[in-house]
Parts: sequence; structure tokens; C-alpha cells
Amino acid sequence: MSAVANRHPGRPVLILDSGVGGLTVLREARVLMPDRRFVYVADDAGFPYGDWEEDALRARLVELFGRLIAEHDPLICVIACNTASTLSLEALRAAYPDMLFVGTVPAIKPAAERTHSRLISVLATPGTVRRQYTRDLIEKWAGRCDVHLVGSVRLAALAETYVRGGFVDEASVRAEIAPCFLNEGERRTDIVVLACTHYPFLVNRMRKTAPWPVDWLDPAEAIARRALSILPVPVEDEAVEPKADTAIFTSGHPDPLIRRLMQGFGLAV
Ligand code: DGL
Repeated sequence: MSAVANRHPGRPVLILDSGVGGLTVLREARVLMPDRRFVYVADDAGFPYGDWEEDALRARLVELFGRLIAEHDPLICVIACNTASTLSLEALRAAYPDMLFVGTVPAIKPAAERTHSRLISVLATPGTVRRQYTRDLIEKWAGRCDVHLVGSVRLAALAETYVRGGFVDEASVRAEIAPCFLNEGERRTDIVVLACTHYPFLVNRMRKTAPWPVDWLDPAEAIARRALSILPVPVEDEAVEPKADTAIFTSGHPDPLIRRLMQGFGLAV
């Protein structure tokens, strides 16, 4: 148990994404850690991360976390974003060695363990697909499989539109996921890794528009479990008055529908 944690029992768990995607992780984290306080950060001024040049995005994240750590003094930082984690986990750990970071990286290992056909697709932002980190995961864990990387330019924005107003352009979802489905003789893709935290919001439409049923692998629960496993255990007699969970937008002005959505997730904006 960390002495630092004991002196600061009210310190929050900070969860960051470029937009609403990290809410899929927050949802699971809340279930596993009902007594924790959460600060949700949407770097909406930087959305979408998928298109950023690598050095610029890494520098942005290191600077942003510096400010967030100073302002909120979190117990732990969960980077609920594959695009950011695959790029900057190492730099963040080096820049803030006293902070615990939990990253979200493509769930290639569990996919390789579960697949029967050994044909897996990884659906992600163009940034995550380009990363050496992603290639290394494939080499390390999925040597026996054929892993097909599919970069989607549009899905994260489609998910943002969906959570704002419930509208989904189904034809676009169908077109974006189509390259994930491969047929090679007797074998066909049986797992699609959702390697962007925005995508689980669209998974029902993905199921509906997929050419055949597959396992859509959403790592949110695993990320929340990982965060729980490394969090210091709170000390009972140091319990503090519960404070509201909050959402922060780097733009400083979320649109009213997003504000409502955050409130629906129990976050004060
Ligand atoms: N939610 C982010 C991820 O997991 C990416 C969305 C974006 O392009 O900003 O990769």
C-alpha cells in the first residue's frame, strides 16, 4: 500500500481520451471501483487523435498530463485511448516517474488466445494502425495468426455523432468495417478487435452491418481491472466525504448535447 495514497485518501482516478470514447472505460471502472472518485478528461481540443503527426501528439500529451497531474493530483492516470497509449505511454512514464499510468492498447493477445480461425482483424484509428507498438504486439502475441490491421478515418467521429444525438450513418459503418472481413479458403475472420475506445458505442450497428457474426473484442473491462489491480487499497478510517465525479473539456466549451451526455454518466461538467 502506498504511503502517498494514505496521506491523500480523496485523490481521484483520472481517465483521459480525446473525446467520449473513454466513457466506455469509465463505465466499467465505476462498476469495479464504486468508492473511487473519477475525473474524466476529454481532450476535445485535440480530437481526433487518429490524424495527428506522432511527435506533435506525444508532446501535447506530455504537456497536458503535466498540467492535469498538477491540478488534480490523481492517484492513477488511465489513458483510455489506444491512439494516445500506443504513442506516448513510454514518454509519459519517463516524464512523470512517480505517477501510475494504465494504458489501453489493442487487445491482440486475448484475440490470439480466443481465435479459432486464426484470422483476426484489428479495427483502429489510422494512428494506432501505423504504430510500431501495435506491430510489436502482433509479433509478440500473435505469431500463429494472420492479423489484419484496418485503419478507419471515420468511425471515431461517427461514434461522437451517435452519442450526441443517437444518429448513426449505417452505410458508413458498413463501409468502414467491411475491410475487417476476410475469407481465406476454409478460414474466415472470427474476431475483430475494437482498438479504439470510441467503437464500442457503435458495436450494435457493427453487428447489424457485418457480413457474418464475429466476436467484437472490447477491452474496457480489462483496462478497468488492470487499474483496480494496481490502485493502492484505501484505508477505511481515512475515508473522506464523497465528491462528485467531474468531466473536463480541454476546449473549455463542450456542446450542450455532450454536456448532457456527461451528466447522464454522472459527471459534473
Ligand atoms: N478513442 C481513441 C482511441 O482509443 C481515438 C479517437 C480519436 O481518433 O481521437 O484510439
